[in-house]
Amino acid sequence: MTTHSSTTHDLAQRKVQFDWSQTPLHWIPGDASASHLVNEINLILPAGEFWFCKVFNRARPLITDDKLSEDVKGFVGQEAMHARAHDSATVEYLQASGIETSGHIRRVQWLFDKPLGDSPWGVSLPEFLQRPWLVLRLGAIAAIEHFTCVMGKFALENSAWEAAGADANMVDLLRWHGAEEVEHRCVAFDLYRHLCRLPAPLRYLLDMLLIMLVVPVMLFIWNSGAAYMMRQDPQLRSYHPSVWRPWIWREWRRAAAAGFIPSVGWLLWQALRYLRPGYHPTDEADTEPALLYLASSPATLRAESV
Ligand SMILES: [Fe+2]
Ligand SMILES: [Fe+2]
Repeated sequence: MTTHSSTTHDLAQRKVQFDWSQTPLHWIPGDASASHLVNEINLILPAGEFWFCKVFNRARPLITDDKLSEDVKGFVGQEAMHARAHDSATVEYLQASGIETSGHIRRVQWLFDKPLGDSPWGVSLPEFLQRPWLVLRLGAIAAIEHFTCVMGKFALENSAWEAAGADANMVDLLRWHGAEEVEHRCVAFDLYRHLCRLPAPLRYLLDMLLIMLVVPVMLFIWNSGAAYMMRQDPQLRSYHPSVWRPWIWREWRRAAAAGFIPSVGWLLWQALRYLRPGYHPTDEADTEPALLYLASSPATLRAESV
């Protein structure tokens, strides 16, 4: 029987345990800006990933393919664990280091609850619009998951963090999460294609529109969250970090040149790759190195030993 699933194995939720007691605020030694720019993912991901779970759980009863349905279940289990792990970093590491995070998290949560919720802006949709609204959000998640996959690959292959003496726990968090993003990179794409009834040319136009929305929103939230934390950092406060000021974008460029974070240009290039005809997530990364990392991730081994 043919399946709409491109994932060749079963996706499992792996338990992890991180110890944040020794992680310094500037976890990339000597680079406060790069530390905060990467730290922003701890703030944005839990709200985003729980939103993925909610939307996928809504979509699951509509799936008519058993393997894909199992993939979606595995995906939801993994994303929920990612969200919890980044939450633990926010509370036990960032807040414990004196960084207030709730103001920024509230704004991110608002985005996923209000405009992107089941009832956008509190408006209950008539039944005939509920499925298109669901599929539209699945399309947005498929686009976002393209970025989490390529950034996961970036994290797995990055040697700049170790070369700079970065905190091993944070590097493991990024690699463990990145590896599972690579592992489940096809699920959002498969689910979106399975439920979207638009003819291919119209779906391509929709994908263009979605990526044009996803990229600026992602960059804006990423940078504004990093600026929110930088303004609380005595070492950076005097630069008045703000998403609206060139300073933070220059810091991003510098941190990217050092290899600590993907550059904005590289992210824009990934957006174009997503739109190339014949795009398929299987071509974006290899599962084998991701599974190899997951078998030896210190956080996974720590969770197994308790
Ligand atoms: Fe994730
Ligand atoms: Fe993911």
